[in-house]
Amino acid sequence: MKQAKETNKVLFVGSERICRQVAYVLAIENYKIVETLTNENYDQYQDYTIYVCEFKRKSKKLITKIWKSKKDIQYLDDICRQIDKEYLVNRRRHRKELKKFNKKTLLSCCFGWIYNLLKVVWHLINGSTIKHRRKINKLKKLIINNNYSIIKSTYLDYLQYLDLSVLFLYVLRAPVNKNIQCSLLESHMHIIDDQIYGCCSAILSFGSLLTTDNLFDIYHSVKARIIKLSSLNGSYCLCNTYSWCPHFCVSAENSNKSFFEIKYPKSVTLAFDRTCNLHCKSCRNERYIMDDLTQKKTDLILSKILDSKFLNHTQNLTVAGQGEVFYSRYYRKLLEVDLQCENICIMSNGTLFNEENWNWIKNKYNLFDVIISVDAARAETYSKLRCGGDFQILIKNLKFISSLKNEGLIRKFNLNFVVQRDNFREMPDFVRLGKSLGVNFIEFQRMNDYGSFSKEILLQRCLIINDEYLDYELWQVLQDPIFKDPIVDLSGLNRYIVASDIKYGKNKC
Ligand SMILES: C[S@@+](CC[C@H](N)C(=O)[O-])C[C@H]1O[C@@H](n2cnc3c(N)ncnc32)[C@H](O)[C@@H]1O
Ligand code: SF4
Ligand code: SF4
Repeated sequence: MKQAKETNKVLFVGSERICRQVAYVLAIENYKIVETLTNENYDQYQDYTIYVCEFKRKSKKLITKIWKSKKDIQYLDDICRQIDKEYLVNRRRHRKELKKFNKKTLLSCCFGWIYNLLKVVWHLINGSTIKHRRKINKLKKLIINNNYSIIKSTYLDYLQYLDLSVLFLYVLRAPVNKNIQCSLLESHMHIIDDQIYGCCSAILSFGSLLTTDNLFDIYHSVKARIIKLSSLNGSYCLCNTYSWCPHFCVSAENSNKSFFEIKYPKSVTLAFDRTCNLHCKSCRNERYIMDDLTQKKTDLILSKILDSKFLNHTQNLTVAGQGEVFYSRYYRKLLEVDLQCENICIMSNGTLFNEENWNWIKNKYNLFDVIISVDAARAETYSKLRCGGDFQILIKNLKFISSLKNEGLIRKFNLNFVVQRDNFREMPDFVRLGKSLGVNFIEFQRMNDYGSFSKEILLQRCLIINDEYLDYELWQVLQDPIFKDPIVDLSGLNRYIVASDIKYGKNKC
């Protein structure tokens, strides 16, 4: 991004809120802000690089006649053009890189070619003629009307299509959203396959690890900054919170954020390998077997993560957000390396969390947290939902983890339960199971779109009607006083519980 090269002196003109956001996206740390450029302050700021942060070019409101003659004033649309130009160049380079990983037959080449042609035509008819403002309004409407479904891709695909500058202007103008409190995007990083996300996949990705050499560059790119800004400015205008994000009601540190960017994220979740010994209904349709091309990709992703030494600066590392930590050779390879993280959180299906694997990992880190996903309190339900798993082995391993916690060898021991049609009646028993094991927390998660069901089937199974309130039977189950126990974490369902309380009313119970 072209910025204050000749001189380090930078002046922003406009409202403080907008100027501070623009400075953040341009990665300018030292600057002054004035509301207007008057004839009187001409001498004082003559040798400054000036950015006028006003939506209307050369606004009379902000600059007087004498200032208008100054050549090197940059306006918001200059900044936007620059952002788009650089992003386009990068995107072209990235596409070239990605081609290395595309298995293309002649047929798919032809389809790809036709698809691209149609896209160009469509862009010519609509894209290039639609002014920024219209695109932004369309985006606003889409979000305000919640006109995106529980299936996350519709919404994210739309955002992905927009020019970077449209996102920039949209975020810049978005009002503060008082209903959301979350700071995950500012302090976390989530690597899902080759994509780098700030918090989770409910928001646009910062970029692909396959197309950039350096994790640091992606984390601090203009795109990443624009995405992070949507949290820093308190608008959360890019979050797909309604239908997807599991985090937005968890953390609550929203007040008075400063536009400050940390060099490295405090916590990182790794989810770059899907390999697993199970094939749970909620997660996938069949056992996943990695093909040669994906192996090559994953090798490259792993080496880039390790080469960047990014993880050495991380306080909390979670492995694995996808796939099984003790089964994947990639996660094992990564954990062999001395990463110098303060603590590690093992997220696992628990079926391989036995003495042998514990002995392998126990000396590699100082502090361990363990999260085990179970989704059932009975053996029949377990084998139905967690295909390939053995409930008796799992219970044996859970008791083993419980003993490690009692000995003080692990700090936290939590259980996860994805609420779905086949298991919701077992939720009270699951709390009793957790209590008998002495766990810290049991998190009941809403079922999201992991691509294993069609939209219709997912909507039936997740027990959330219209993405607004819970299925009546699930709501009734949740009236059990056991859910008031402090170890129960219903934060992912809270919004729906509140809406259901209003919808069904306590008297119907
Ligand atoms: C994909 S798993 C990967 C880690 C490990 N294999 C495990 O099962 O815990 C990460 C978490 O996602 C949860 N999960 C699986 N399918 C889900 C879905 N459709 N919606 C929401 N969470 C899901 C799992 O229960 C687990 O807590
Ligand atoms: S609300 Fe969700 S999508 Fe938005 S920043 Fe927080 S974790 Fe990310
Ligand atoms: S939820 Fe976890 S254990 Fe189940 S298939 Fe997915 S990655 Fe494997």
